[in-house]
Amino acid sequence: MNLPNIKEARIRTDKKVEIKRDEYQLSPSMKVLGVGKNYCIYTYGCQMNVHDSENISAIMEEMGYSKKEDMDEADVIILNTCAIRENAHNKVHGMLGRIKHLKETKEDIITVFCGCMAQEEGIANELKEKFPWVDIVMGTHNFHKLPLYLEKTLTTKQQDIEVFSIEGDVIEGIPVKRDSKYKAWINIMYGCDKFCTYCIVPYTRGKQRSRLPEDILKEVKDLVKEGYQEVTLLGQNVNAYGKDLNLHYGMANLLEDVAKTNIPRIRFVTSHPWDFTDDMIDIIAKYDNIMPYIHLPLQSGSTKILQKMGRKYTKEEYRELFYKIKNKIKNVSITTDIIVGFPGESKEDFQETLDLVDELKYDLAYTFIYSKREGTPASNFKDETTEEEKKERLAELNKKINQYALENNQKYLNKIVDVLIEGKSEKEGRLMGYTDTMKLVNVKASEKYIGKIVKVKITEVKTWSLDGEVVDGK
Ligand code: SAH
Ligand code: SF4
Ligand code: F3S
Repeated sequence: MNLPNIKEARIRTDKKVEIKRDEYQLSPSMKVLGVGKNYCIYTYGCQMNVHDSENISAIMEEMGYSKKEDMDEADVIILNTCAIRENAHNKVHGMLGRIKHLKETKEDIITVFCGCMAQEEGIANELKEKFPWVDIVMGTHNFHKLPLYLEKTLTTKQQDIEVFSIEGDVIEGIPVKRDSKYKAWINIMYGCDKFCTYCIVPYTRGKQRSRLPEDILKEVKDLVKEGYQEVTLLGQNVNAYGKDLNLHYGMANLLEDVAKTNIPRIRFVTSHPWDFTDDMIDIIAKYDNIMPYIHLPLQSGSTKILQKMGRKYTKEEYRELFYKIKNKIKNVSITTDIIVGFPGESKEDFQETLDLVDELKYDLAYTFIYSKREGTPASNFKDETTEEEKKERLAELNKKINQYALENNQKYLNKIVDVLIEGKSEKEGRLMGYTDTMKLVNVKASEKYIGKIVKVKITEVKTWSLDGEVVDGK
């Protein structure tokens, strides 16, 4: 048993990150462990977790397990959790209740608890004390060891907690079963060293570790051969890619090399404004297959609050970067993240956020009420704003965000845009896909277009999506 420890999770040393290529191994007995059995996986949180779940699914299937959508049919239930805000916790506690209920009639179900919540000291202890029936608790650094833990649990029938608060290594060679045949997530780096004062991620994901350029480029080239249309390069702070490798090869170089593979579409998330270089902007502007879409989290429009958040840029610096991107990248859409009700945010500070939103008119924004995360510096900051006031601020902000989202979408009416058709839409009888600028489009089109980039005429615009018709299928 290994329990996480917040003090250790905070440590950053100069220790060189190891690239481990032989860590994922299956013994002959592991390869047949799941034959005739089923698993299901529930994923919460960001794209990194979504991609980790694609890895975990592949690992399960290499052991012979088959995937089911519903927990009623599963022999192994996996919860891949997120810790970013308190409400992420609530959802997972609800799921644990459902599984416990199911276990009353189907005793030998195995429950696996993993992801960022597992890395939290308080949560791991709670699972140990209050949920001893949760069979395996594993962290973000060692989920590739799942076959080992499963084999052990099936013999000992005892709870196994294996969570390590370490800086982390780079593990290559973990298999992947991608959810889509057309677009793929690719990790370019793990962890985060920014330590924004509100954020739990540096504790749950370890230190910033970049993958080697050649490993990333090989993955992209293989995807091109398989006919993939789009890759999204993933990291908590992709603009800092490569800084830890000392290769004098950064995000601008990587973007250029990925662009040269001729994959039709390249995206990347998330960009911390701090490390966004002019070189990056020039490369994005230069290559047509790097999508004109930037997610540029603002967090707050008040320099005072930004400083308390540890974001290391001022309102003015952010604004300057925003306009540089707008002016240099043709037709770019910019989205953002904003936190309201951060400790010490006064009415005036919040007004500065509203004013900046009025000025910058984002294509879309993800907005959150500040959520206190145990162990982070901000959890000790004095917070005098009432919950009610915070909710009012969020509603006021969202009203503006929605207004600008609609205004930006209106520019698309009657225009012809490229859409990668991904599959069926939630809207009856339609397919769905995204524009190069990341606008969701519900398209009237034949299913033969699924997996293709097609010309779509926009016939109707809404706040969150566009409607359209195919005009010229390739
Ligand atoms: N690495 C990314 C953000 C990843 S988390 C970046 O720095 O840009 C996604 C978003 O969740 C953040 O941008 C922030 O707006 C929000 N978030 C993170 N911690 C939060 C907290 N404690 N309370 C509320 N929102 C939070
Ligand atoms: Fe969290 Fe900041 Fe790192 Fe983003 S950059 S993951 S907000 S600490
Ligand atoms: Fe959540 Fe962990 Fe991602 S906390 S947002 S799943 S990195």
